[in-house]
Amino acid sequence: MKRQHIVDSIVLSLLYAVLAAPSIASAADQMRRYELQPADQGYRLALRDVARPAPADSEVLVRMRAVSLNHRDLYVLQGLGGRDTSGLVPVSDGAGEVVALGAGVTRFRIGDRVATTFFERWTGGPPTPAAVTTARGGDKPGVLSELISTHEDGLVKIPAHLSFEEAATLPCAAVTAWNGLFKHGHLQAGQFVLLEGTGGVSIFGLQFAAAAGAKPVITSSSDAKLERAKSIGAASTINYRTHAEWDKEVRKATGGAGVAHVLEIGGKDTLPKALGALGLGGHVALIGGLTGFGGAMELGALTGRMGSMTSIYVGSREDFEAMNAFIAQHKLKPVIDRVFSFEEAAAAFEYLKSGSHFGKVVIRI
Ligand SMILES: NC(=O)c1ccc[n+]([C@@H]2O[C@H](COP(=O)([O-])OP(=O)(O)OC[C@H]3O[C@@H](n4cnc5c(N)ncnc54)[C@H](OP(=O)(O)O)[C@@H]3O)[C@@H](O)[C@H]2O)c1
Repeated sequence: MKRQHIVDSIVLSLLYAVLAAPSIASAADQMRRYELQPADQGYRLALRDVARPAPADSEVLVRMRAVSLNHRDLYVLQGLGGRDTSGLVPVSDGAGEVVALGAGVTRFRIGDRVATTFFERWTGGPPTPAAVTTARGGDKPGVLSELISTHEDGLVKIPAHLSFEEAATLPCAAVTAWNGLFKHGHLQAGQFVLLEGTGGVSIFGLQFAAAAGAKPVITSSSDAKLERAKSIGAASTINYRTHAEWDKEVRKATGGAGVAHVLEIGGKDTLPKALGALGLGGHVALIGGLTGFGGAMELGALTGRMGSMTSIYVGSREDFEAMNAFIAQHKLKPVIDRVFSFEEAAAAFEYLKSGSHFGKVVIRI
């Protein structure tokens, strides 16, 4: 009787083992990622279990640890690109660690801490059609995923003093601010810099300008945010809600001369005022359109000041690496407003949309 019981137990154990084996194997082969699913207006985020990717030749498998959101991710979710992006993995910016290498990879080793570049295949030099059609979370799959397999060209090593969450804030907003101020603006110590609002691009602009010994002048709709901006290096602050003619206030803050640099993120409603605040020989980095991309521009406002304008579309890996050297040299820490869990990704998008944030919004994976 006892012997029969033991035999039954062994048979049952074997049966459980056989039944469990496929699910154990499939769990190891699976990962979770978000995909865009059509909704009433644009798309919504759908969390999916999918097959774990394997790195192809020249690809690196990255275990993502954190991603950060940009205003552009809201545009993608709203379907503003105008094309069908059903099934697209959203979000361009992330950081994680290398867990496997495809054949022929030379730039990375297993265990390296890396961040994704905004464009998977823009390594350096002037923009080309082939390079600028590789934007992650738009043209190419994004990074809101437990694992990604990506070409080794599209990764940079992250500065040693930064966490994964901090490094995840860099690929879009920081590189854009860096290029506007340094690569195209040639920022010098002592110059005045205008930053509009306290979102991702502007707060990086403030930190970079302060670290370079320049004088950041920043606007916001919130006095509380302006106080916070002062604590990280703003020389002057102006509330654009309570000062409709905030351009005049900016000019006053520069002793009448006007600013040498503008990171123009507002578009239609802010550009005329940004030009009003510009000093002789000043540079405007055209970046965003938070108030819209249309509108008219008074040419004389630029030419009369012998000013210049550059339109920026993030930047290349070379730009990212130059910026990382500056960040490491100055031990700069990105300003993270709030960190959400992977399961709270939709709430993170809502939070960014509310405009309550100061700096960056991050999702931990
Ligand atoms: N061309 C490129 O390569 C590039 C790269 C990155 C971003 N962008 C664009 O740049 C813009 C900003 O992006 P982001 O990710 O930094 O956005 P974000 O983090 O969502 O910033 C939003 C903040 O902008 C401020 N803002 C809104 N309307 C404003 C106005 N009329 N005047 C002044 N400030 C205003 C608000 O700050 P307060 O709450 O302080 O008022 C708001 O909280 C977006 O249009 C984005 O698409 C372009």
